[in-house]
Amino acid sequence: MDTPVVAHDRSELAGVLPEAGVRSAVVMTMGALHEGHRALMRAARAAVSPDGVVIVTIFVNPLQFGPGEDFERYPRTPDADVATCADEGVDVIFAPRRDDLYPQGEPQVTVDPGPLGRELEGAVRPGHFGGVLTVVAKLLNLTRPAYAFFGEKDYQQLTLIRRMAADLEMPAEIIGVPTVREPDGLALSSRNRYLSADERRVGVSLSRALLAGADAGPSGGAAVLAAARSVLDRHPELDVDYLELRAPNLEAVAGPGAARLLVAARIGATRLIDNLEVQLSR
Ligand code: PAJ
Repeated sequence: MDTPVVAHDRSELAGVLPEAGVRSAVVMTMGALHEGHRALMRAARAAVSPDGVVIVTIFVNPLQFGPGEDFERYPRTPDADVATCADEGVDVIFAPRRDDLYPQGEPQVTVDPGPLGRELEGAVRPGHFGGVLTVVAKLLNLTRPAYAFFGEKDYQQLTLIRRMAADLEMPAEIIGVPTVREPDGLALSSRNRYLSADERRVGVSLSRALLAGADAGPSGGAAVLAAARSVLDRHPELDVDYLELRAPNLEAVAGPGAARLLVAARIGATRLIDNLEVQLSR
């Protein structure tokens, strides 16, 4: 197993990017890598074949954290992350310093995520998706991949990145990867490590609520929401920010077929999100 090349700034990165004609795929992360990130790396490797290049970016992006959010205490595990990337056969790690990615300080020109950027997560975290899309655009421009992989775990983020790539004619193909879960259903997240044992037990009810909702799909949208809500209501420790049923592109749900059920809740000081596809029969 070869150790990945680690580039700490843009000039080091430029020196190790593949030549034109070699297929490359990028997986963007904030580190504290887990099985969910590994699934993205495997999908990236499968897309570019053994002779292609898989690039993982690791950067805790200050622009997407609001005041009072967990930027300072966000888990940082650089050595373990390099080992994980090596284990997955990653070719290049780009782990820039803040002043390398933002050499002129706070960027003045940023990506506006549009109306969807102010709904769901965006309603609770103002400015979050502008920060996400701005760093994703920068990292796409710096790594110039054929493919970029993102998790369905952050479904609204994936949807907005797809929309940005389409609306702004970005050449990378954006590919979504299904959510990786613990055996009991809890979606893997770098933030799960903040949960106490008791909080973790409550956290499982997010995925249980989504499954209960999906089971009610044959009875229609109102039944889906009621079934999911009744699971959440059993846990007064859960402070639910939203539970919503939307179309797959996150516009208003329009009747039979696939839909997306999305939930966000706080447990103590930790905020968790999850989502699931639901088939509506009517
Ligand atoms: P981060 O939370 O580190 O997630 C990096 C990527 O891993 C995202 O595409 C996310 O959706 C995916 N991911 C996280 N947990 C997953 C799981 N359980 N199953 C499948 N995929 C999972 O998302 C970000 O970082 C940042 O916003 C970023 C895109 C890197 C921009 O800063």
